[in-house]
Amino acid sequence: MDIVVTGGAGFIGSNFLNLLVPRHPEHRFINVDKLTYAANVRNLSAIENRPNYRLERVDIADRDAVRALFEREKPQIVVHFAAESHVDRSIVAPDAFIETNIAGTFNLLEAFRALPKGYGQLFHHVSTDEVYGSLGATGLFTEQTAYDPSSPYSASKAASDHLVRAYHRTYGLPTKLTNCSNNYGPYQFPEKLIPLMLLNALEGKPLPVYGQGTNVRDWLYVDDHCEAIWTVMHKGRVGETYNIGGRSEQKNLDVVHAICDLVAEAKGVPSGELRALIRYVQDRPGHDLRYAIDASKLMNECGWAPRESFESGLRKTVRWYLDNPGWVAEVRSGEYREWIERNYATRGEGPGGKR
Ligand code: NAD
Ligand code: DAU
Repeated sequence: MDIVVTGGAGFIGSNFLNLLVPRHPEHRFINVDKLTYAANVRNLSAIENRPNYRLERVDIADRDAVRALFEREKPQIVVHFAAESHVDRSIVAPDAFIETNIAGTFNLLEAFRALPKGYGQLFHHVSTDEVYGSLGATGLFTEQTAYDPSSPYSASKAASDHLVRAYHRTYGLPTKLTNCSNNYGPYQFPEKLIPLMLLNALEGKPLPVYGQGTNVRDWLYVDDHCEAIWTVMHKGRVGETYNIGGRSEQKNLDVVHAICDLVAEAKGVPSGELRALIRYVQDRPGHDLRYAIDASKLMNECGWAPRESFESGLRKTVRWYLDNPGWVAEVRSGEYREWIERNYATRGEGPGGKR
């Protein structure tokens, strides 16, 4: 099969390709990526010379380029990861989120729809639990939960999900959709909570916790997400949606404490020294309180289960960042420093700091 993987140079996409390209020499993987700030071709150095892997630099928001690519490659399968993915950036500058996440998905669906008979056998759309909005103290997101997105990011992903479902219902496109909880692991860009806190703790920098640190996220190790997508691609039903999550709810403050403990262990310093770096800063506007995923449909229908616990996955993740200082130095480019300055220098002290 020829498999177009969009966004394969980002965090989850590159873990997906690193896992599956060596395992499946019978398939040809074409990584279609614009190579934005969040991408890094070095993530793919282990597979870049494999005969069944190739990178095509294409902006999915460029309709003509997407059409030309599909006419040329005629893929059987599309796995669509490409997106602008950071909530805080979507609050500061939403435009790119609309262009890539909504118009980009539309362009892919149109190009997929135009493929000749026999091609275009599956369009797998990778999405997020953020489309469901926020939970209160109890309950879980199921596939029946009504969409209620809070940020420009989650609203753009919700729109893309609706387009994918509409193309299945209207044109009969063979689509599948997965909505996953928060991922963590190697190659995650250090604007996101876990790598940001890990690297700041390592360097003795402040650890900026939004609000009071009581928001809850449901964490899944990235390889578990990738295996789940591959499982749904093969065992899931066409036209269906599957939630992905590992039932690993954690308060943000507890995540930061766990990171401090692991980094302290590695540095040979007391954990209290790193926990003292925590600063409570102004909250994210529209900050969803709690996410928690019910993945029983996926588990029961497809037989998937996560392999990694939060403890084992976080330990692996800390080890990976400690072992890859070259990667870290490279991604923390001028653009990264500008973002950190923009997001944190302007955030005042949050309510947590006044306790
Ligand atoms: P990421 O930001 O690390 O990577 C995104 C990739 O998409 C990058 O390689 C980037 O260059 C590429 N890209 C962006 N705009 C593009 C464009 N216009 N054309 C082509 N390529 C473009 O994101 P991620 O965390 O790896 O997320 C991947 C997907 O998984 C996204 O769709 C996201 O919504 C979804 N998701 C992420 C999480 C998470 O916790 N990170 C959880 C659930 C779902
Ligand atoms: O739930 C899935 C989503 O998870 C994905 O769709 C998104 O692409 C991904 O970015 C992630 O979104 P979050 O907003 O949950 O992730 P983030 O790492 O930005 O933040 C996690 C939590 O930590 C959130 O409650 C905000 C908080 N936070 C984040 C940062 C960057 C802080 O307290 N301080 C910070 O500096």
